[in-house]
Amino acid sequence: MKVAILEQINKNAQISIIIPTYNESQNILSVLKSVTEYIPKKISTQTIVVDDNSPDGTGKLVEDYLKNLKKVAGNTIKIINRTAKTGLSSAILSGIKQATGDIIVVMDSDFSHPPQIIPKMIEAIKKYQCDVVVASRYIHGGNIQGWPTKRKFISKIATLIAKKGLDVKVNDPMSGFFAFKKNAIKGISFDAIGYKFLLEILVKNRKINVKEIPYTFQERKFGASKLDYKTVTDYLRSVWKLYRFGQTKETNEKRSSVKFISKAARFYTVGASGFAINYLVSLFLSDGFLELWYLHANAFGIIFSITTNFLLNKTWTFNDRDFNKTKTLKQFGKFVLFSSIGALIQLGVVFTLVDNYSLSYPLSLSLAVLTAAFGNFILNKKLTFKEKLLE
Ligand code: GDD
Ligand code: MN
Repeated sequence: MKVAILEQINKNAQISIIIPTYNESQNILSVLKSVTEYIPKKISTQTIVVDDNSPDGTGKLVEDYLKNLKKVAGNTIKIINRTAKTGLSSAILSGIKQATGDIIVVMDSDFSHPPQIIPKMIEAIKKYQCDVVVASRYIHGGNIQGWPTKRKFISKIATLIAKKGLDVKVNDPMSGFFAFKKNAIKGISFDAIGYKFLLEILVKNRKINVKEIPYTFQERKFGASKLDYKTVTDYLRSVWKLYRFGQTKETNEKRSSVKFISKAARFYTVGASGFAINYLVSLFLSDGFLELWYLHANAFGIIFSITTNFLLNKTWTFNDRDFNKTKTLKQFGKFVLFSSIGALIQLGVVFTLVDNYSLSYPLSLSLAVLTAAFGNFILNKKLTFKEKLLE
């Protein structure tokens, strides 16, 4: 008898369904009922609602509903009440931490993701032996209903950024409706910023097999979308982080000398770009565009190129992504200061080489520029971006 039950459990691996909610009192109970209705009885499920203390009382509503719910074997529903709204991805992560199923399904609580699709997703995981199944709007047979053109357009752009920028092969990496084997995310450390949980899985585990199945996204009938301006900036921030994640994985250089030289090379490259920018802007402002007096035009060229140099060195050479206002301003101040010191070094070196050592002016100039740039590099590395000289 016992053995038979065990076999049953193994055959029907348990499924955990995670449903994050924020102000979904008009939807959540019907979604829970619908999910229960559409999942075949032989599959045992654990449904987890993750609510962020919704002001409309979604959490309390679910709790009361669960109190009176008839217990059905192999079918549990629970709620995680979090104290504050900390975002969709982080809600999903909280759900995962309490999920006991081998397969986890993530879905919205507003009927945009039709519960009828869940059994198909589970079937697909078994049939194709894959780790992740994405319910997709952007493959043959998939669709979106009820979205204005503007939202469709934004979604397409976001999808394009993910596919091209992060080299993701899935057609709908922004889908919020997906299922995965719990094992497939073992060892991943999640940032869980914003909305895009699936994207983080796809980027951080490149080895997983993914299968997409089509579905039609239907815009919610009740309540409002929680997608706002912050969701968009969060998205860009997370794409940037994921992009960096891919890079640090590839360049695992340990030798400090190589690191030093590669940083210096970046610094010099930025310097060269600054030279070109300075030249072009100065020329453009005096001749082509505003017809400024040439010294004014040149002054703008200098200010402009110092600024681009600073930004490139900050984000590229020294990898500093912290744009805290006061910190960035201080860094910029130091950068300008060291650029001026560099100019003085350059003048001094040219003078000494030409006057005391009788070197030709072009040769002296080249040596002076290189010396000054090197001095600049050292000062900025150590004092502006606070990096050790050799790390
Ligand atoms: N717990 C919690 N905390 N839940 C949240 C939060 C939060 O901070 N923000 C949103 N949710 C819940 C909502 O209650 C809903 O169930 C689900 O997450 C999706 O939020 P919506 O506000 O309805 O998002 P949407 O319809 O605009 O966007 C959907 O479609 C996108 C496709 O482009 C989502 O599925 C996105 O994940 C998906 O990318
Ligand atoms: Mn929605």
